[in-house]
Amino acid sequence: MQRFFQGEFTISNKEGINNLVTEADHASEKAIFEVIKNDYPDHFLLSEETGEIVTDSKYKWIIDPIDGTVNFAHGLPLCCVSIGLEQDGQMIMGAVYNPFVKEFFFAQRGYGATLNDKKITVSQETSVLTSCLVTGFPYSYLDQPNGPLEVFSRLIRAGVPVRRLGSAAIDLCWVAAGRFDGFYEHKLNAWDSAAGYLMVEEAGGRVSDFTGSPYSPYQPHIIATNGKIHDELISVVNNRHATLGSGRQ
Ligand code: IPD
Ligand code: CA
Ligand code: CA
Repeated sequence: MQRFFQGEFTISNKEGINNLVTEADHASEKAIFEVIKNDYPDHFLLSEETGEIVTDSKYKWIIDPIDGTVNFAHGLPLCCVSIGLEQDGQMIMGAVYNPFVKEFFFAQRGYGATLNDKKITVSQETSVLTSCLVTGFPYSYLDQPNGPLEVFSRLIRAGVPVRRLGSAAIDLCWVAAGRFDGFYEHKLNAWDSAAGYLMVEEAGGRVSDFTGSPYSPYQPHIIATNGKIHDELISVVNNRHATLGSGRQ
């Protein structure tokens, strides 16, 4: 936070010109590692900037030290820390914190999802056409058939509002809180979605890959919705939808 408000951080590029990492990403990761290693020294860690610290523990922490780094680097207060915990390959806990608006999302498998300790649930919207959606765009892989630009174009030409916040973890939490009816993205990593996808499921929503199969954070595609628009959004993403696409040109 202090680094953000005082602009006190250096920015470097990863792959591609705008795939950024800042000093704050590394500082956040270090602070999170210290806490986990102190309390659970034998647990497996997977974190965006360091990669894997492999152990034979049945517990694996999946960490995005800042999700929304481009926002952070440009002074946009829309980013978060995202931490998921797997036990024997199953996500059992997710925590996402956006310090700028002091929103703490938390989910534990079987116990629901909360925002600042208040239970949250997904929306009741039943149609994609009247939904408010959110998505994100990768740095590559944009132009494939049914790729990110084509799907986005299909939806906005039909008049569906599709937002782009720049933080997949926040996108997912906002679906869980009913602010968005659905989220889809073509190319995420496990640290982007680990905590947020459990949040959506525990808030009563549904999360899958683009075929409708149960979601795994170790493959790139995600569709996360309130459940009611899920099958329809899968059809839109795969261009099997009968009515969308004939709207505004
Ligand atoms: C990014 C954000 C963004 C998504 C990108 C991610 P980062 O994570 O989650 O919303 O569209 O694919 O890489 O780089 O800010 O941690
Ligand atoms: Ca991320
Ligand atoms: Ca990150």
